[in-house]
Amino acid sequence: MALQPKNVGILAMEVYFPPTCIQQEVLEAHDGASKGKYTIGLGQDCMAFCTDVEDVISMSLTAVSSLLEKYGVDPKQIGRLEVGSETVLDKSKSIKTFLMPIFEKCGNTDIEGVDSTNACYGGTAALFNCVNWVESSSWDGRYGLVVCTDSAVYAEGPARPTGGAAAIAMLIGPNAPISFESKLRASHMAHAYDFYKPDLASEYPVVDGKLSQTCYLMALDSCYKSLCDKYEKLQGKQFSVIDVDYFVFHSPYNKLVQKSFARLLFNDFLRSASSIGESAKEKLAPFSSLTSDESYQSRDLEKASQQVAKPFYDAKVQPSTLVPKQVGNMYTASIYAAFASLIHNKHSTLAGQRVMLFSYGSGLSSSMFSVRLNEGQHPFNLSNISSVMNITEKLKSRQEFPPEKFVETMKVMEHRYGGKDFVTSKDCSLLAPGTYYLTEVDSKYRRFYSKKANENGTLANGH
Ligand code: ACO
Repeated sequence: MALQPKNVGILAMEVYFPPTCIQQEVLEAHDGASKGKYTIGLGQDCMAFCTDVEDVISMSLTAVSSLLEKYGVDPKQIGRLEVGSETVLDKSKSIKTFLMPIFEKCGNTDIEGVDSTNACYGGTAALFNCVNWVESSSWDGRYGLVVCTDSAVYAEGPARPTGGAAAIAMLIGPNAPISFESKLRASHMAHAYDFYKPDLASEYPVVDGKLSQTCYLMALDSCYKSLCDKYEKLQGKQFSVIDVDYFVFHSPYNKLVQKSFARLLFNDFLRSASSIGESAKEKLAPFSSLTSDESYQSRDLEKASQQVAKPFYDAKVQPSTLVPKQVGNMYTASIYAAFASLIHNKHSTLAGQRVMLFSYGSGLSSSMFSVRLNEGQHPFNLSNISSVMNITEKLKSRQEFPPEKFVETMKVMEHRYGGKDFVTSKDCSLLAPGTYYLTEVDSKYRRFYSKKANENGTLANGH
């Protein structure tokens, strides 16, 4: 019988994003957008994308096998595997089942869990499921494993620069360096048509960009209000941004993250919280009587609250923005890539700190939840997580595509989406050793993957 688990949360993480990318500045010029629109206006630096040899399955195979290998976890020790994704390659067969060969090979087929889907929120649903499982009476003492994997692609037009691609794997268990403060959690779920994928023949969403921004901010407000109420009931004192060391947001593009954090300060102002000093009060006072609908449309409020938030933003949010700015929106993986950036930047000083995460998926589902960090024990400690993820090296070794080649790749991917009976270029020259890649989709739509040989020369094993 397993003992009652304590400090359940994330023990280990691995991040994978494609080595192929395009600079936003280059894409901006190519698209004929005004200079600065993608870089300053959206706040993005670069965008990763899959070529014909990569997809959400290959990326998740890479992230999972790399995590198990680098932390020395025996695949037999996994008792639950949950995938979050909104990139549909099959309407029935889960991505989780494509990952099973890693475990079957070791004789482990006793693994609960399937896929969760709701736009960018599926990864958080998967994470909650795994954490709840470890905390439950049905836990069998083994680890949970969560995978968030998405390829975010948009049709040509204003949404295209808000794409990206990545997979993130997270090992879940007790005594974690990143443990959940389970009582500090609030959700906002509603029905909206802000971003959805009704056309099953296309990988591209139908998106109402402006509505999606407002829905995101409304969900944020609602989660924050509920969380403040819950905290105040539990602790008997007021909650504000001061009580959190770092905030991590789902990041479709950085500008929305800046606006979101400013919105929390405006919420604190409306609640007369102690985070708001006298000069901030003066700056925000003209907006105190706006209705909430008016407040989402007010450019002046946006400017004033961003100004008030700036010093807090630099300290509490900026450290989590690196990977989302460099890789783009990774849908389900986006918030966890932001969290990975925080660990990468601050791992040596995070022990004892509280981090608040906000997860948003269009349609819509959202949650705000809190984690506490501690140094942990090797191999499950913050500095080892940072070195395993090796973010600096992964970003540095990418290949920048010129815009014509990027557009051509998008066309190939459009054509291939939902297709059968083709072999890919099998060109894995840009992929790091140990990366999985797609080789073929046969006449029965069955997908086949290979693994690029490891540095130590281990032979590739396809399945
Ligand atoms: N220099 C500096 N800034 C500029 C410039 C310039 N030359 N040109 C425009 N800008 C600014 C704009 O002022 C705006 O900033 P603001 O919001 O602070 O005013 C920003 O750049 C973007 O310009 P817009 O004209 O608002 O952009 P557009 O409407 O063409 O597209 C959008 C932006 C709606 C985000 C689009 O990319 C999109 O639909 N993306 C997908 C939806 C999305 O990501 N939604 C977020 C939540 S849902 C989710 O995660 C999928």
